Amino acid sequence: MSLEQTLQFLPSDATEAIVEGNFSKPFLKALGFEDLEMVPQFPVSNRAVDHAARKNTSNDIFLESFKNPHLYMEVKARSENLADQCHPNYCRAAQQLKHYLLDPASKSVKWGLLTNSLHAQLFRKHGKVVHPVTPCLPLDGDIKRVVKDLKQHLESPRRALIVAVYNNKGGVGKTTTTLNLAATLALLKKRVLVVDFDPNQSDLGDALNLKPLRGKILDILKSKEADARDIITSYKFEHPKLPEPLGFDVILADEDLISDVDEAKLKQQVKLHALRRVLESVQGEYDYILIDAPPNWRVFAQKAIYAADVVLIPARHDNLHSLQNAGMAITRFIPEMQAERRRFGEAGPMALPIFMNNAFRISDAQLQLMHQAVAKIIKDGRSSPTKFDLTPYFYPKFRKGHKDLRMISIPYMAYISRADFMHIPAAFAFKPAREQYLNLVKEYFL
Ligand SMILES: Nc1ncnc2c1ncn2[C@@H]1O[C@H](COP(=O)(O)OP(=O)(O)OP(=O)(O)O)[C@@H](O)[C@H]1O
Ligand SMILES: [Mg+2]
Repeated sequence: MSLEQTLQFLPSDATEAIVEGNFSKPFLKALGFEDLEMVPQFPVSNRAVDHAARKNTSNDIFLESFKNPHLYMEVKARSENLADQCHPNYCRAAQQLKHYLLDPASKSVKWGLLTNSLHAQLFRKHGKVVHPVTPCLPLDGDIKRVVKDLKQHLESPRRALIVAVYNNKGGVGKTTTTLNLAATLALLKKRVLVVDFDPNQSDLGDALNLKPLRGKILDILKSKEADARDIITSYKFEHPKLPEPLGFDVILADEDLISDVDEAKLKQQVKLHALRRVLESVQGEYDYILIDAPPNWRVFAQKAIYAADVVLIPARHDNLHSLQNAGMAITRFIPEMQAERRRFGEAGPMALPIFMNNAFRISDAQLQLMHQAVAKIIKDGRSSPTKFDLTPYFYPKFRKGHKDLRMISIPYMAYISRADFMHIPAAFAFKPAREQYLNLVKEYFL
């Protein structure tokens, strides 16, 4: 029976057991897995995910060895609403799948699939980050196309996670965070590309003592057959105690992006998806691509967010606007770009929890003021038309039943600002700074 017929014969109110019993196997088969390549009720620590799958190798049959699963599939009843990303059914199911994917027993798993046989959505796991790669796809239309789309993702080679560092408030540490994350990831032997997409300031190139390029980026952003290799510069740092120099690649800002082009003209010449397309041409060559975005919501910021898989938002506990703007990025700007990406059948970008940068000896009174301000931002988010719950973005450790108000933070460190004057990322130059950024990397990525 074809997958279309299987779907036709499923009762409209199919329970989870019926969907799992009748639809899971044919769906996985359509995605390219044989009978011996799938295991139902696959054990994950002391629970079980509905299905796991992995291609067999000549001497390792997945159904026999149960080793190194590649994909998890979590199945729900048709009555569970997976089409509306704000619906509690969807949130619970996506959270459950994420828990399975991030379980220490799931190291080899790269993909998570959520379905109730009416819709399906694919998630990718990259290090510690689980992010959607497709929107919620309806299965009652052109199922062949959906299958083709999903297969294309599953069979694509490993690609970099694209992270935009953004807050439309200035001076919160976007450039500093981008550079030091790049340096720390490079120290961990990850291949990193950094993009300075704030041409009005070009701070990133300046921080590394690299001169901006003239002319090339605009051409590449405008061109349909863009290849980022033409505009990539290498940054190397000779560490006295290491045999090899440390470093990462950089796409520098380009003065010509701002010199004589006005914003309306630029919008016409350079499409919203331009940066994403350029980065896709080299995505297979890196583990991480980090974009330093400008502090506004104009063309460059929009393209940077559009290009990202995930958005990392620094804010400052002592700056109300940086907290409000972080909330606004999550409730308004990022969803705007998600809507644009959906038009092209793509999912994302996804916001990561906000982190407090430059946290300097916070007094209890200051802390209380900040929590009050954040409570108001969360309340406003809940009463907005989209009823957005910002709690997990400010307080990622908050769980129902116990009110854990810890935030992710990087303290104020004289080393960090001193490194600016030396034109070296602080994480390369100073061990205490390196330790702080290592914590940040562990918190978010690894
Ligand atoms: N954790 C920190 N400790 C000490 N100084 C910091 C820290 N983070 C950032 N700074 C300093 O704060 C200043 C502003 O940081 P940065 O330039 O990274 O902000 P930005 O958000 O990129 O600014 P803009 O919006 O102008 O692009 C810099 O001088 C930087 O060295
Ligand atoms: Mg900056």
